[in-house]
Amino acid sequence: MDAVVQSNRVAWEQASTKHVREYDELLEEARSGPRLFEREAELLRPLLDNQPTVVHFQSGHGLDDVAMVKAGARQVVGVDYSSVAAGAAQRRAVDLGLNCRYVVAEVPGVPVKDGAADLVYTGKGALIWMRDIAAWATDVARVLRPGGHLFVYEAHPAVPLWTWDEDEPRIRPDRSYFAESHINDTFPANGAQEWQWNLGQIVTAVVAAGLRIETLEEYAEPFWRPADDTSAAAWSGRLPNSYALLARRP
Ligand SMILES: C[S@@+](CC[C@H](N)C(=O)[O-])C[C@H]1O[C@@H](n2cnc3c(N)ncnc32)[C@H](O)[C@@H]1O
Repeated sequence: MDAVVQSNRVAWEQASTKHVREYDELLEEARSGPRLFEREAELLRPLLDNQPTVVHFQSGHGLDDVAMVKAGARQVVGVDYSSVAAGAAQRRAVDLGLNCRYVVAEVPGVPVKDGAADLVYTGKGALIWMRDIAAWATDVARVLRPGGHLFVYEAHPAVPLWTWDEDEPRIRPDRSYFAESHINDTFPANGAQEWQWNLGQIVTAVVAAGLRIETLEEYAEPFWRPADDTSAAAWSGRLPNSYALLARRP
């Protein structure tokens, strides 16, 4: 494993203990309702109606897996290099009797057979941890069966630029849209290095891997807000904060 990827993994193992500490709250959240965003659920509905086998790249706390199974998925296989995150997600799936299985592995290099997935689902803070976006897209295409879909719901690549000022949106002086990477200063922190794939690079990687893009939508609403009442002006509707991408393997 690449040295930076390995040190990010250590940061994620530590940060993922949150999923263990907050296990009861997350279990209750999983029990009590769907978690997918409204637009995300709309885009996924026709796919979930067909009871797909889903492979979730970088499954994290795995709450989206519960929502996908409740919405029709036959099975979800979550893949994450954090054994702490995968362990907590597996425990919850067992507690809820859901058909979700978690594998500890690095992405790309997902230990799933070629063509095994009807749907590869990922996002909400996932692509920024990919060292090589072309290798990621190639692995997605390999895992998908012909006719299968990739769905990404992700932070917009411009997000690292926004300050959290509440009066006006501003651009951080230490950031560039075209930088290759920066050190994460929120979560999981601890010196983790995020890669900055811009929208053009992501789309190009997906297309070069042989997938056809069906939907690419940008949204003003971030996929995540802090639990306190911080409300940055950058989130008030004038700037992009998230996007959804749906692509199909021909
Ligand atoms: C912010 S979480 C997002 C995941 C998930 N969508 C969620 O909402 O919890 C990012 C996850 O990616 C995992 N991760 C980061 N880089 C990875 C890699 N190269 N291979 C596998 N997992 C990785 C981390 O362990 C973490 O659980």
